[in-house]
Amino acid sequence: MTPHLFTPLRLRDVELRNRIFVSPMCQYSAEDGVPTDWHLVHLGSRAVGGAALVIAEKTAVVPEGRITPACTGLWNDAQARAFARITAFIAAHGAAPGVQLGHAGRKASSSVPWLGGRALTAAEGAWRTVGPSALPFAAGHPQPHALTPEEIEALVERYAEAARRAAVAGFQVVEIHAAHGYLLHQFLSPLSNRRDDEFGGSLENRTRFPLAIARAVREAFPASLPVFVRISATDWVDGGWDLAQSIAFARGLKEAGVDLVDCSSGGAVPDAKVPVAPGYQVPFAAAVRREAGIPTGAVGLITEPEQAERIVAGGEADAVLLARELLRDPYWPLHAASALGVDVPWPKQYLRAKPAAAR
Ligand SMILES: Cc1cc2nc3c(=O)[nH]c(=O)nc-3n(C[C@H](O)[C@H](O)[C@H](O)COP(=O)(O)O)c2cc1C
Repeated sequence: MTPHLFTPLRLRDVELRNRIFVSPMCQYSAEDGVPTDWHLVHLGSRAVGGAALVIAEKTAVVPEGRITPACTGLWNDAQARAFARITAFIAAHGAAPGVQLGHAGRKASSSVPWLGGRALTAAEGAWRTVGPSALPFAAGHPQPHALTPEEIEALVERYAEAARRAAVAGFQVVEIHAAHGYLLHQFLSPLSNRRDDEFGGSLENRTRFPLAIARAVREAFPASLPVFVRISATDWVDGGWDLAQSIAFARGLKEAGVDLVDCSSGGAVPDAKVPVAPGYQVPFAAAVRREAGIPTGAVGLITEPEQAERIVAGGEADAVLLARELLRDPYWPLHAASALGVDVPWPKQYLRAKPAAAR
């Protein structure tokens, strides 16, 4: 019997060859938001390595939505053209290309991690950050401009435009980033959203902007292609965003036509105590799947083939997303297939290296 991890998954008209997705990972290697050869090789290697879906990093819908000056964007056609070369390569190697659309909000205007990941200075080209409220992320971070209702409305359209460009660029999946303390999560979490208008206060009000984006992206992206949303299922802080609110939000996302909720956690505030351990976020994917009745993805310290198989076989999630383990080993899906005793096609160029048992 084929292991569950290697059973294809169909979402709308997209057939994914297994349940292993490349989790979006910023590479901080773009120029003016345009992906480079690094992205072609990085993302392309993981398609060659056997993943079913390769999700490109958080890609900004407007320039000021970048975390760093080296983040990718989809606010212009040059960016879409550069991505088109990459999506064609990914698709030619049997994987579906996806992209995560986002806006960093009050966490924007930072330096790349290897230069400290701190707030940029004016001399380094800092820009004005935005958020639901004029509350900085942490000491040393700039005070964001609280978005006006008109600015919020305009941003919904920017997400839709980026989704249209993503389709033109050949992406088959769009994931909306509503996690990790970036703009949409900033609206969801009472820790960062202190508004007293229709975008703050009640759960209904805090979810209004993210749900409007989900509907607009769903409308803008072809009906044959799936839309995902990544959430932080909890802030890990009393009085913050939590699993119960995530389940209610996921029900709204389902109604908006979203196809899968990718369940991460944390990032809203710098001092949360996160009980990091293998598979520690899997219970969130399981609860959202069960309670909201929507397909989910599990992510976070999933590194072993048997562990991934158990998650999918046990109905905790429909797919697993791997990040750091796929940086260590881009061929993890091919190795996992061997470990679980299933024969999957290898790239013909690499056939002479395929283990005999899996040949
Ligand atoms: C280098 C790097 C860049 C990341 N960039 C993003 C990103 O762009 N969007 C996102 O949602 N998560 C991002 N993450 C988080 C991962 O997608 C993933 O959720 C997290 O690393 C936990 O999974 P892992 O234990 O398999 O690494 C990044 C992680 C790493 C290591």
